[in-house]
Amino acid sequence: MGRAGIHKISRLLVLANRLPVHRVGRERDARWVPSAGGLVTALQPVLQRVRGCWIGWTGIGGDTPRAFRHDGVIIRPVAVSEQEVEDYYHGMANQTLWPLYHDATRTPEFRRDWWRSYLGVNQRFARAAANLARRGDVAWVHDYHLQMVPRLLRRSQPNLKIGFFLHTPFPPEELFEWLPWRSQILTGLLGADVVGFQTVGSARNFSRLAREYTSAEGTDQELAFEGRTIYVNAFPISIDTEWWEERAQRPDTLRKVQEIRKRIGPKRKILLAVDRLDYTKGIDFRLQAFEELLMSKKASSRDCVLVQIAAPSRESEKDYSQLRAKIERTVGRINGQFSAPGRVAVHYFRKNLTREDLAAYYLAADVMLVTPLRDGMNLVAKEYVATRTDNTGVLVLSQFAGAARELTRALIVNPRDIDQMTKSILQAMRMPYEEAAARMSILRMRVRRHDVYLWAEHFLQALTS
Ligand code: ADP
Ligand code: F6P
Repeated sequence: MGRAGIHKISRLLVLANRLPVHRVGRERDARWVPSAGGLVTALQPVLQRVRGCWIGWTGIGGDTPRAFRHDGVIIRPVAVSEQEVEDYYHGMANQTLWPLYHDATRTPEFRRDWWRSYLGVNQRFARAAANLARRGDVAWVHDYHLQMVPRLLRRSQPNLKIGFFLHTPFPPEELFEWLPWRSQILTGLLGADVVGFQTVGSARNFSRLAREYTSAEGTDQELAFEGRTIYVNAFPISIDTEWWEERAQRPDTLRKVQEIRKRIGPKRKILLAVDRLDYTKGIDFRLQAFEELLMSKKASSRDCVLVQIAAPSRESEKDYSQLRAKIERTVGRINGQFSAPGRVAVHYFRKNLTREDLAAYYLAADVMLVTPLRDGMNLVAKEYVATRTDNTGVLVLSQFAGAARELTRALIVNPRDIDQMTKSILQAMRMPYEEAAARMSILRMRVRRHDVYLWAEHFLQALTS
């Protein structure tokens, strides 16, 4: 990573809903281990280069261990009570903001008790940061859980550099306007010096809404508000490309790939999908497209197999348990009709894999299906591309993933258009090597040039210049 943006930082305070570590084991055997996920992977390398402190929640209601040091980073847990887990996290974050920010894929609920709880938790995060902040520190606030923090923190630390980055999309006017607390949230975000988004579209939505619902004035990139200037822009997040490339070429990964291919059927085209089990990911539409492909007889379970790896997520929430039941019914139906002994049509795994095992699956896949209904970026698409060091493999990518703005040489689909999805899957399976390689080399160029280090560097440069 270049250092232009971070050399001025004496210490980076990261504020995110979840801590980068979680506890495993009980009582005296308990220990903290790193958590997986895009946000943690993205920030870990930055925190190796500057002194850092991470302020976040342990993921367990009522649990407030003292601050401690892990891998050189100070971990400062913030208390979230069991009631707040219900109202702030399952309620406001997951049932109001998450669906609203993803094209209202499910109907968002608006509840004043959830909003009050959200404010309370945001105040606690801001207070924790204010108590830790020293001259020269920089605070970087992440995601939809903490949108009020920039303003609350600014009040007690007027000279602190504060950045905010949203990992999800920021919705267009006609959806954001539904929020009873729209002005408060916009004002909350305007407490930052830099407000960053995944795409230019999201950045523009924010600036327009800020001009409409607050006293902010200015352009899409620069807003004047209460005597300060706020810089707004797209900073598309990325991955540790080198790690995935290196991993993909290791002999132990190649052995795993052979094993996967042998077990699944060496002659069948492997179609792979990897997502959190979330309704925004379009897993149900994807299964429908695969089922229709088999029904059309243009492909059969002799030629191809779908491997769907789904990481369990937010399982106590109704929308998620209903989706899981629907997916599992559909997989059962497809396999009932199209599988034969030793030839399963859909392999469905509901589990978390290690990054090392994921790399092997990416490498085993002839076709990668990344077809969310809406996604801030989608790192899976970039990870797949990074592992294809020999330029093989075809990426089918939803036009509604932020990644589609960069990975334009993928086969771009509308995930709700089942006919187009079916056609594109077939096209991907039959694509001649030369065309696939030409496309993949361009995709790879993008993820090699623009990795997660550059993402962090660009953001911190904007914040400290
Ligand atoms: P989101 O942040 O909405 O979950 P992304 O695709 O941007 O979606 O990031 C998901 C991250 O989680 C990726 O880094 C991916 O490798 C990882 N991941 C997804 N599914 C699994 C799984 N089943 N096991 C392990 N890691 C997973
Ligand atoms: O991408 C959005 C996000 O909230 C990430 O910040 C998080 O890693 C992932 O989804 C999982 O969500 P949760 O923290 O609600 O389990």
